Amino acid sequence: MAKKQRLPAGHQHLCDILFDQGFGERRTCDGLILHGLVQVNGQTVDDPEAVFPADGLDMVVEGQPWVSHVRALIMLHKPAGYECSLKPGAWPGVHNLLPPPLRRRGLQPVGRLDQDTTGLLLMTDDGPLLHQLTSPKKNVPKVYEVGCKHPVTQAMCDKLLKGVVLDDDPEPVAAAAAEADTLHLRLTLLQGKYHQVKRMVAAVGNRVETLHRSQIGRLTLPDDMPAGQWRWIDDPAIVLP
Ligand code: URA
Repeated sequence: MAKKQRLPAGHQHLCDILFDQGFGERRTCDGLILHGLVQVNGQTVDDPEAVFPADGLDMVVEGQPWVSHVRALIMLHKPAGYECSLKPGAWPGVHNLLPPPLRRRGLQPVGRLDQDTTGLLLMTDDGPLLHQLTSPKKNVPKVYEVGCKHPVTQAMCDKLLKGVVLDDDPEPVAAAAAEADTLHLRLTLLQGKYHQVKRMVAAVGNRVETLHRSQIGRLTLPDDMPAGQWRWIDDPAIVLP
């Protein structure tokens, strides 16, 4: 039996890198390489066993530029009309907005946005990072731009800051910040409870008409990123407080 080659730390065979990136079954990945459809650092590589660093590898696969990420963390500008559920029902899932390699990798949304909510959504296939980002202990602030049905009064903001009781928990839940400008409310929350913004706003006698998440941790949704677009996040530290 051929002896298995020991590879330098962080290196892999090109076919394994493509497989882990989500380019298909191993046979498919071998085929892409053997047919000359994979370039690495600007050169066609036709040997599936060629060895490269697995992370940060600059590739073009079937004409598609792709930098390998051993663990994927992306931001998506979620449009309205998409569900965050992994098994969407009435609406298409946010996975449909991702390219096939990321869809195959089974990225999970970091917390969920409602079907009608727009804005910043993180997705990852890094289990420990997902846990860190969603853990209530981490207190990652999330900023929501809320369009309200009625003018938002200072009394409403004060109540949101003091804490309101929601129907599934006797402990009051408070906003970390609440700033109002007539029908617009900017609300910062540290938790990620089900329909939290809508329920908190209802608890102070108003109603959410539109909801958009503009920021998670120190990461703000870029102005030049239209709804439906996604980007890699190379440093998770930007979203951790
Ligand atoms: N709170 C809500 O009510 N909906 C969301 O989508 C996110 C936070």
